[in-house]
Amino acid sequence: MSNTLPTLRWGIIGAGSISGKFVGDLEIDRSSYAKANHQIVAVGSSSVEKAEQFIFKNLRKNSPKAYGSYSELFKDPNVDIVYIGTPHPFHKQPALDAINAGKHVLCEKPMTLNYKDAKDLIDAATKKKVFLMEAVWTRFFPIVETFKDLVHNKKIVGDIHRAFIDFAIKDFDELPSNHRLKDINLGGGALLDIGIYSITWARLGLDPNVGKKALKLNVVSSSVMDAGVDAISSAIITYPEIKAQAILSSSFWGNTSREIIRLEGKLGKITVFGKYASCPTKIKITFDDSEKEDITIEPPKDGFGYHYEADAVALDIANGKLEDDIMPLDETLLIFKIMDKIREQCGLVYPQEK
Ligand SMILES: NC(=O)c1ccc[n+]([C@@H]2O[C@H](COP(=O)([O-])OP(=O)(O)OC[C@H]3O[C@@H](n4cnc5c(N)ncnc54)[C@H](OP(=O)(O)O)[C@@H]3O)[C@@H](O)[C@H]2O)c1
Repeated sequence: MSNTLPTLRWGIIGAGSISGKFVGDLEIDRSSYAKANHQIVAVGSSSVEKAEQFIFKNLRKNSPKAYGSYSELFKDPNVDIVYIGTPHPFHKQPALDAINAGKHVLCEKPMTLNYKDAKDLIDAATKKKVFLMEAVWTRFFPIVETFKDLVHNKKIVGDIHRAFIDFAIKDFDELPSNHRLKDINLGGGALLDIGIYSITWARLGLDPNVGKKALKLNVVSSSVMDAGVDAISSAIITYPEIKAQAILSSSFWGNTSREIIRLEGKLGKITVFGKYASCPTKIKITFDDSEKEDITIEPPKDGFGYHYEADAVALDIANGKLEDDIMPLDETLLIFKIMDKIREQCGLVYPQEK
């Protein structure tokens, strides 16, 4: 732990899969490049035993307090920020409770089920003057910074008119009907779980701006419904001002062939690779001019990569900011406008919205 870096004290809500990965990354030894110190001081779960098991399984350096309810964690004065790691329909209420208890909040994606609920949360955080961010961790990978710089600042392949994006993981058929990805009551469906990343890449690849400054866009989509939710959702996002289109898909059948996004520029192509569209690992640039050599960028990587967003959040809070510049709250709302539109076109309404 460095004395010169800011320290953020985390309370974790939901002792499940993603919370385990997140806290594991916070414990990685990153002394050479960490931008903040992270302490995990509390874990809140549906039972104390489950919180204790989570701590035993996932943590080696931290000894957080185990709580058998979320409300007890919100009262803990040692908690600066609450990380919400529950399934999507169960983000809003604990996030609101944490905000009302005066805690900062990092909420797993999607922040809520829809635009309206996200706006409610944002309004609550603004009123309470606490930090709030949707945990779209992909945007904080250093390789994504490099990608944006190459595409938008250096314009390494010139003006871009088309992007192809895919995030597919299998296999929907093998999931039990009560799995959160399949169950409409648990926010099931491809769009909210993985399609949000495809849309994120469309935003990253075609628009240099975020939030309020975003370029105008429109969206058409089509989905394949199964078990009451979208097993495949595909969309075309058009940016009329720059005469560009993103053609994107998310699917619970199949497996992305490690090619996350391919951008076609006037001078060549930029392709980003990764096992999942959420975690990019390699950029390849190929030029139409056969005299020019291809460029490959593949930086080293530690853990899953959740520490990058955690560092950004810690720096924001240390600097008294209430939202992040890379993932501002208006960008969350913009992505929800797109996702609401796609769900409207396939008629997917969650029971919590009725
Ligand atoms: N950023 C990423 O890379 C990433 C990856 C995967 C998932 N996610 C997001 O993280 C969230 C959680 O996903 P997950 O796979 O970790 O979920 P999970 O393991 O199924 O559940 C996480 C925790 O949520 C609580 N929970 C589960 N089912 C519940 C229910 N029916 N009602 C109320 N609480 C329930 C439980 O916490 P307690 O019993 O401990 O209270 C559970 O341990 C989702 O919104 C997902 O989109 C993000």
